[in-house]
Amino acid sequence: MTAVPAPEVTVKATPPLPEPAPQAKIETPKKEAIPCPITEPTASFVPLAPSVSLPAPATPESKPAIQAEEKKPTTQPLFTGRVEHTPDLDKPARLRQNKGMLSVHDIANRELLDLVPYEPGKPVDDVARELGLDPASIIKLASNENPLGPSPLAQAAMRDAVDKVHFYPDGGGFHLRNAIAKSFGLGRENVVLGNGSNEIIELLFHTFTRPGIHEIVTTRYAFAVYTLMAQLFGVHAIVVDDVDFTPDLTAMLRAVTPQTRLIFLASPNNPTGTRVTNEALEAFLRDLPPHVIAVLDEAYYEFLDNPPDTVGQVRAGAQVVLMRTFSKIQGLAGLRIGYGLAPMEIADLLQRARQPFNANSIAQAGAMAGLADLDHQRKTKAITDEGRRVVEEAFARMGLKYVPSSANFVLVNVGDGGEVFKRLMKKGIIVRSMVSYHLPEYIRVSIGTPEQNARFLAELPGALEGLVKVTTP
Ligand SMILES: Cc1ncc(COP(=O)(O)O)c(C=O)c1O
Repeated sequence: MTAVPAPEVTVKATPPLPEPAPQAKIETPKKEAIPCPITEPTASFVPLAPSVSLPAPATPESKPAIQAEEKKPTTQPLFTGRVEHTPDLDKPARLRQNKGMLSVHDIANRELLDLVPYEPGKPVDDVARELGLDPASIIKLASNENPLGPSPLAQAAMRDAVDKVHFYPDGGGFHLRNAIAKSFGLGRENVVLGNGSNEIIELLFHTFTRPGIHEIVTTRYAFAVYTLMAQLFGVHAIVVDDVDFTPDLTAMLRAVTPQTRLIFLASPNNPTGTRVTNEALEAFLRDLPPHVIAVLDEAYYEFLDNPPDTVGQVRAGAQVVLMRTFSKIQGLAGLRIGYGLAPMEIADLLQRARQPFNANSIAQAGAMAGLADLDHQRKTKAITDEGRRVVEEAFARMGLKYVPSSANFVLVNVGDGGEVFKRLMKKGIIVRSMVSYHLPEYIRVSIGTPEQNARFLAELPGALEGLVKVTTP
């Protein structure tokens, strides 16, 4: 196996984001009758590139990551997910069979064999077991979960739903989809339920991409699941550079080719916590060609102070899919329930791609009640806003470079993220190392309760010893 070299990342002090603009009503993109540039490719399968190569970080003088005229042919994508090419697997299975060496690997999809699975936050029980710690003494600030726990109304509804688990769930999700639709002034036909919003990503690939033919566009520090899923589906991922950890929407548009079907944008993004401005988003959607679906990942939407009117885009029939989740503001991550909002025609296609009972009955009941629990959502936002202020101010006092966040977590440069992750874990604090995101100097820390934040900040200076110079803690 060839090791994939981590691209060099130049650490720059990150200036604060521009002031968000006042609540912007996004105009429906005016799609004129442009001839569709789709060309039906003839290649039946385009092999994955042998190694990962990312565009160099953009500097003010440098050209944008991808220039239209310099676009590489689709057989040579800039990036194809986190692929490690395994030359051995290219040997025809026949040869191995002759040697009596046929293994299931010879008959499995190669994309799957090359896949480096998504690395989730380390569970409390694993850490307790590995380090012999009392689980109750461990705090997990690694998966952007809700520090207040689940919505109490959702808990009560789920208890009631337990009595009926001998029935299959409502496969059509009638009540939950109606409730979601009503809360946004949409119709039930605009709502697609998912086993977490992650499943909506998968449905999008099923619906709009063909292996070896189509492409997606995303950004260097975008949520990892987009490129993972692209690899799994054998779809090329064109990854453009961010500017100060913020998606460069102009570069993303330039990267679109006739083969592009999905363009993924998370705002706020995970793991950077950055958002795009409402004006920039509006222009981006206006300029998107008609053969591309804008996938707006809004897992942290409810944490924004000045959110864009993206639901208005759905209402107006724009070529968008919004992805939302019950995992964050409602505190229901363990239930695995999320949803997509899209114009009816798109939502109808996505519905065809899903399993009949993808949203289980307990999840549907919990989500219904969680949606209505505005008090829990308000409290969650308040505790997050305050905790993020405390954590970011402490980072600033310590002289640490951090990325100002619009979500419930903060990305911070600690010199050696893998080492700090281990040192904090020994103290019973689980954060997220950013090695898998090619940010080896960083950790990402979720905002916890005031007590959890204080404990993390108290242990941090010790964990940084010998790694970065800290000013007054
Ligand atoms: C940006 C982003 N999108 C999607 C998800 C998936 O959320 P879920 O599948 O729990 O709804 C996450 C989870 O952390 C996320 O950070």
